[in-house]
Amino acid sequence: MTATKNEDTRGTAEVIDTSRASIARVYDAFLGGKNNYAIDRAVMEDVLKIAPQASLVAKGLRRWLIRVTRYLANQGVDQFLDCGAGLPTEENTHQTAQRYNPDAVVVYVDKDPVVAVHGRALLEENSSTHFLQADLTRPSEVLANPIVTDHLDLDRPIALIQCATLHHIDDDQQPAQIMADYIEALPSGSYVALTHWWDPQDGSEGSELAKGIERSFRESSMGTGRYRGRGEIETMLKGLDLLDPGLVELDQWWPEGPLAKPNSLVETLILGAVGRKP
Ligand SMILES: C[S@@+](CC[C@H](N)C(=O)[O-])C[C@H]1O[C@@H](n2cnc3c(N)ncnc32)[C@H](O)[C@@H]1O
Repeated sequence: MTATKNEDTRGTAEVIDTSRASIARVYDAFLGGKNNYAIDRAVMEDVLKIAPQASLVAKGLRRWLIRVTRYLANQGVDQFLDCGAGLPTEENTHQTAQRYNPDAVVVYVDKDPVVAVHGRALLEENSSTHFLQADLTRPSEVLANPIVTDHLDLDRPIALIQCATLHHIDDDQQPAQIMADYIEALPSGSYVALTHWWDPQDGSEGSELAKGIERSFRESSMGTGRYRGRGEIETMLKGLDLLDPGLVELDQWWPEGPLAKPNSLVETLILGAVGRKP
């Protein structure tokens, strides 16, 4: 393993594996960030050969996340658990949440050591923002961790965010069951915001593109990535009342206004929804 040692703001040494790409760093590369290595950029470049507009997907995801956070904060939600936080970027969940609801507390979760280093330095900006390095596929461990239980009151509604995380969880890890466990543990009145790569599975050009991008990610040193069918994604939202307009392409979920230009095909291959636990 090629490894880089890095130290976070608490002086904790983190070993970063630079012999394999990591989705956090690849995503950072797509967003034009600087926290990525050649091995990560190679994954991005292979995807760009198939889908030259793929960077727009990452940008669209960030716009969606910010819109959803603003919506929820305006509804009075003051507790956010953002799973798969990603590397800090221009506008992060806590900045939006606290702008619209100054009482909002945000706990970020990510397992990536580079995210942990930068997350602790940049995302833990104030006493209402916290970072937990943990595996989001283990809901009971995440929800029982003192960083979560000390800062979020799990007897009051929270917003659980899973933005662009579950398509990096393989089938054998049972992402629908992971979501069922989270949803069961959330108190009534909680919200779940989720986005997921979508394969229309209809023999269309879009479905072929989804399969091609999936192959590119899976054959890369990263090794993960799943474009799932609508039914599989809906299963991850079971038990929730979906807010209008339901599970839709990201720019159809409360867009900022009319699109300046039509979305490219790759941008249509991702769906998002926000649901409320009754
Ligand atoms: C594509 S990025 C999305 C970042 C952010 N949620 C967004 O939408 O902009 C996926 C993030 O999920 C994290 N992630 C993937 N699998 C994870 C796991 N099992 N546990 C914790 N974090 C995970 C990655 O490290 C990465 O930061």
